[in-house]
Amino acid sequence: MNKKIKGFSKLSKDKKLDWVVNNFFNDSENAKKILRKYLNNDEKLQKIHDEFSENTLTNFYLPFSIAPNFLINSKVYSIPMVIEESSVIAAASKSAKLWSELGGFKTKVISKIKTGQIHFIYLGEKEIITSYFNSVKSILIESTENIVSNMKKRGGGIIDIQLNDKTSDMNGYYQINISFNTVDAMGANFINSCLEQVSKSFLEKTDQYNEYKIEKNEIKVIMSILSNYVPDCLVKAEVSCEVKELNIREEYDGFCEKFIQAVKIAELDVSRAVTHNKGIMNGIDAVAIATGNDFRAIEAGIHAYASRKGKYTSLSKASIENGIFNFSIEIPLALGTVGGITNLHPLVKLALDMLDNPTAEELMQITASVGLAQNYGALRSLITSGIQKGHMKMHLINILNSLEASESEKKLAIEYFKNEIVSNSNVQNYLIKLRKSDEV
Ligand code: MEV
Repeated sequence: MNKKIKGFSKLSKDKKLDWVVNNFFNDSENAKKILRKYLNNDEKLQKIHDEFSENTLTNFYLPFSIAPNFLINSKVYSIPMVIEESSVIAAASKSAKLWSELGGFKTKVISKIKTGQIHFIYLGEKEIITSYFNSVKSILIESTENIVSNMKKRGGGIIDIQLNDKTSDMNGYYQINISFNTVDAMGANFINSCLEQVSKSFLEKTDQYNEYKIEKNEIKVIMSILSNYVPDCLVKAEVSCEVKELNIREEYDGFCEKFIQAVKIAELDVSRAVTHNKGIMNGIDAVAIATGNDFRAIEAGIHAYASRKGKYTSLSKASIENGIFNFSIEIPLALGTVGGITNLHPLVKLALDMLDNPTAEELMQITASVGLAQNYGALRSLITSGIQKGHMKMHLINILNSLEASESEKKLAIEYFKNEIVSNSNVQNYLIKLRKSDEV
C-alpha cells in the first residue's frame, strides 16, 4: 500500500489497470479479470462511461429497479430506482400500492429558486461598496447575456442580484447573492458560469465607475459558487385517509396513533431523526441516481433544511384531525431533467422516458412521493413487525450468495426461512446441515 505514482491520469487505460493490479493485489491476474469483466463490450458505450470521470478503470454495477403503482396527482407511475439495499424497492412498492388504493399522493411545488454567491472581502466603507454595487447591478446582470440567452429562451435566467453585508460575521466579508430560475436543468454549470462572469465584471467595472475610488485589488474575491442549500426550491407530498380505514388496512387497531407517535419521536430526538430521514433518503437518492441527478447535492441540501430551525428534525410530519390521518413531507429538491448526464447515460434516458419525460417540477413531485412512501414503509415495519423481519428476508439472498449457495440450495433456504429468523449464522448453519443431508 501507500504506493505513489506521477502522471497516472496520463497513462492509457490498460497501463492504469496494470499499475493498479500489480501494486495492490497478490493475485493480480484475478484482480484484472474481475475489473475487465465489468467493462462493456460495446466500445462506444464504454467510452461514454469512461469519459464521465477521470481515471476510470471499469464500471460499477448497481441494480436498476422499478417501483410500480405510484399514483401521484391522479397519474400512475412506475418509478425507476437505483439502489443496492435489498428492502428499499419492496418497501416503496408496498407503500405505493397501499396508497394508490387510498387516493394516492398529492403533491405540489412550492417554490423553485436556486442561488449562488460571490464571497468577497472589502475593507473600505460599507456605503462606498454598497453605492458601487447599486450602480453596477444592472451591468453585472447584462454581462452574463451570452451565458443566459438560451436559458432565457426556455423561460429562466437570473431572477435577482443582491449585496449582503456579512461584516458582523467576518471583517470585511460581503456576498453578492444571485437567485436563478434554471427551468428543467439542475443548472450547476450555468449558475457557476454566471457567478464567475459577474465576479469578473464586478472587479473590472471599478475602473469605469471611478467616482467610488475603489481600486480593483481592494476587492478580494474569495470564491464564486452555487449553493446546494435550496430552501426556496421546495416540494410537498402528502397522503391522507380516514384513520379507521388505515387501521383496518394495516390490520392493527391504533396503527395511526402509534404512527403519529413514531413521527413525533423523530421530530423531538436527533438520534431518531437522522435514521428516520435516512430512510426517506433511501428513496430519494435511488430516484436521483436513476434519473442522473446529483444525490450528494440533494443530500447536503435536505439535511441542512432539516436543521433550518437550529435543531435537526424529521423531514416528515403526521397528524390526525377529525378522524383523518395525514402524512406529509416538505423538502428542498434541486433536480434536473435536462443537461448533465441526462442526455448521455442510456439508462438515465430510459428512466426519464419511463416517467414520461417529466419536467424538473414533475420530477421533484415524483421524488418527494417516493421519499414519503419509503418513510411510510419503514415506519409501518418499525411499529408493527420490527424492521428485521422484512429486511433480513430481503437480505437472505445476499447472505446465500456470499455463502456461494447453489440455486437449489437457495430455493430450499427461502422456503425454510419463511418461518425462521434470518441471520448470518442461522443461514450458515442451515447450509451446513443441508449440505450434509442428501436434499440437494
Ligand atoms: C434503513 O435503510 C432505513 C431505516 O432505518 C429507516 C428508519 O428507521 O425509519 C429502516
